Amino acid sequence: MIQPFDFYNPTHIVFGPERLNELDSLIPQEARVLILFGGESARRFGTIDKVREGLGKRTVLEFAGVEANPTYETLMKAVAVVKDEKIDFLLAVGGGSVIDGTKFVAAAAEFDGDPIDMFGGGIGKQLPIHSALPFGSVLTLPATASEMNAGSVITFVEKGAKLGFGSAHTFPKFSFLDPTLTYTLPKRQLANGIVDAFVHIFEQYMTYDAGALVTDRFSEGLLQTLIEIGPRVVNDSEPDYNDRANFMWAATNALNGVLRPGVPQDWATHMIGHEITNLFHIDHARTLAAILPAMLTVRKTQKQSKLLQYGERVWGITTGTDDERITAAIDKTAAFLESLEVPTSLSAYDLTAKDVDALVANLIAHDQVKLSEHGDLTPEISREILLASL
Ligand code: NZQ
Ligand code: ZN
Repeated sequence: MIQPFDFYNPTHIVFGPERLNELDSLIPQEARVLILFGGESARRFGTIDKVREGLGKRTVLEFAGVEANPTYETLMKAVAVVKDEKIDFLLAVGGGSVIDGTKFVAAAAEFDGDPIDMFGGGIGKQLPIHSALPFGSVLTLPATASEMNAGSVITFVEKGAKLGFGSAHTFPKFSFLDPTLTYTLPKRQLANGIVDAFVHIFEQYMTYDAGALVTDRFSEGLLQTLIEIGPRVVNDSEPDYNDRANFMWAATNALNGVLRPGVPQDWATHMIGHEITNLFHIDHARTLAAILPAMLTVRKTQKQSKLLQYGERVWGITTGTDDERITAAIDKTAAFLESLEVPTSLSAYDLTAKDVDALVANLIAHDQVKLSEHGDLTPEISREILLASL
């Protein structure tokens, strides 16, 4: 049965090249703005200059150095700047890490108590978030859809954890999506973006049949789009505007809420993947690709109806026994990921069975013990999946 749902997404998307002068109309004139960005890419490729121009005469401060997989430790320094400088508007310029980090700063600056309690997962009290500073984003890396959702994933270096939080107050007010900003991305980050978006669709689609025809076909259309453009985006010697634009908009739609109405969700691949990044510092998307085929194989009974539907509608697999069709669909999925030069096993990163023990111990420590759409994916099944992905 189609599940009851709310759909809410207040983020204003400003899509297209060279529109950063429109920042002026989207931020209050009297705002004191803090621009947050990552390493050097945003400055080196001129985006920070364009953003500053768009902000005109407003008071503007910068906070550089938000890491890939942004850390609590660094972001608390930004929270201190916000408080000391009476900042009242944040602007993220970057990929998922910078936007996630900005969400944390926005909420932590207004949180009544220790911001660690915005999180659960065995490290905080997971208290409700009642407000956050307003913020916008300028997206430079299509992948996470953080530019149009309310979620954020933060790494706690001291506590050895990577955990998410979200609230109705942490949607960006606006996000600029300029496909030409992706032209400077290295091949590895382009591939990561395609894979992350692909797996976001899977987490919401590859569960069991709920009869949600609209949502299913949105998912299948986005999967087909990524399969069509993915290899071109990653391998083209010259970037093609339409491919980059379709990539950007597909990645945003993969996790902005439109694939959620009426359907169950899985997210086990992500929860296990976060532990892999946390312990072994492997890029987020690469952890997902490394375990997805094993996840589908181990869970093929629970996911049978959707695996068959996916195989038929996305890959045109219509012959063979159910089992043969499911195997073919999983093989096609793995081949697609590999075609982007993203490995589909953990052994590609030299992990061994001993590492699996450490990962399972962390899943338990962070309360990731009842995963997937049925809540029946125990640490023992996580172990089975991890061992199968070696
Ligand atoms: O630091 P700089 O120099 O800016 O370099 C960045 C960074 O090293 C570089 N980059 C970004 N835009 C560029 C560029 N290089 C050249 N040209 C450009 N235009 O790319 C590197 C990676 O950036 P990052 O933001 O870390 O990548 P991504 O967007 O994949 O974000 C990953 C983070 O998002 C979280 C992940 O866990 C991870 O921490 N996620 C957030 C989600 C959400 N909020 O909904 C969902 C996801 O599943 C995911 O968990
Ligand atoms: Zn992801």
